[in-house]
Amino acid sequence: MTDLASIEPMLKVETLGLRFRNPLILAAGILGLTAPILKRVIESGAGGVVTKSIGLKPRKGHPNPTVVDLGFGLLNSMGLPNPGLEEFMKELETLRGLEAPIILSIYAFSEDELVEIGRIVSDFNVVSAVELNVSCPHVDGISEIAKNPVLVESYVQTLKRHLDKPVIVKLSPNVSDIVRIAEAAVDGGADALTAINTVRAMSIDIEVGRPVLAGIFGGLSGPAIRPIAVRCVYEITESLNVPVFGCGGIETAHDVIEFLMAGATAVQLGSVIARGGLRVFKRILKGLRDFLEERGYSSIDEVRGLAHRR
Ligand SMILES: Cc1cc2nc3c(=O)[nH]c(=O)nc-3n(C[C@H](O)[C@H](O)[C@H](O)COP(=O)(O)O)c2cc1C
Repeated sequence: MTDLASIEPMLKVETLGLRFRNPLILAAGILGLTAPILKRVIESGAGGVVTKSIGLKPRKGHPNPTVVDLGFGLLNSMGLPNPGLEEFMKELETLRGLEAPIILSIYAFSEDELVEIGRIVSDFNVVSAVELNVSCPHVDGISEIAKNPVLVESYVQTLKRHLDKPVIVKLSPNVSDIVRIAEAAVDGGADALTAINTVRAMSIDIEVGRPVLAGIFGGLSGPAIRPIAVRCVYEITESLNVPVFGCGGIETAHDVIEFLMAGATAVQLGSVIARGGLRVFKRILKGLRDFLEERGYSSIDEVRGLAHRR
């Protein structure tokens, strides 16, 4: 990272009282299930990491096949497999003292579960913030939350009451008015938002005349959803003054700049890592440096929100 250390001042992001050395954050669910891998992601250049979404109790997830590469993006129906909160916290314990913020992604099937999660995580200082996943499009009991502003506000309020850390709410694109849901999250006390989770989708194997995924429906990610995600970030930041983490289809420095210009505070990378490995961080960071230098910007702060200025 020595060659990148010199450009860190141009790329640093300060938000939620946290310092990210650059705007590239690992998205939830991609490599985020074990401590050694999270450590490698940070060593590869990530400015921060979001873990796999974790629930109060262990969960098996959906039967295979759960992921298919469609070429223009991934279709997944993992079903939120995870070891449960207590077990996962033991795993994260070994990451104490790392230089990049660790954001714990959580989900809950009820507000009672959120109360318990909030209490348990409040004292756990390995984790700097919590991302509340209300938007997984292929798990019954979760996908419905993100569509209902009353539920979103109430969930966020409950978590905030019992958790002494910044709360980021991860929004779904599978709604008719994402700004309304974003407002509800902010009214409930959200400190930041992530836009977007995957787009509900399906694919059919025409040889056998059956859905490709065992769970029938899944979430589409990757480059195909990027314009949807950019639109969501733009719409939210046009209406609300809240930090937004842009997520969806980012593959290059050009894509990151697009999200920043749409108003994103920082971005999250998912499918590009699943498909291209951890070297993408350095490649994108160098691309960001080149973009800023070639155009005479002294930091990414000068780029942020540019598309809103008329
Ligand atoms: C295999 C896979 C697993 C995922 N698991 C989660 C998860 O556990 N929690 C969550 O909030 N999002 C999850 N996501 C969604 C990503 O975090 C991200 O929002 C989405 O993939 C869009 O970004 P991308 O196009 O860069 O992948 C998952 C995505 C994929 C492809």
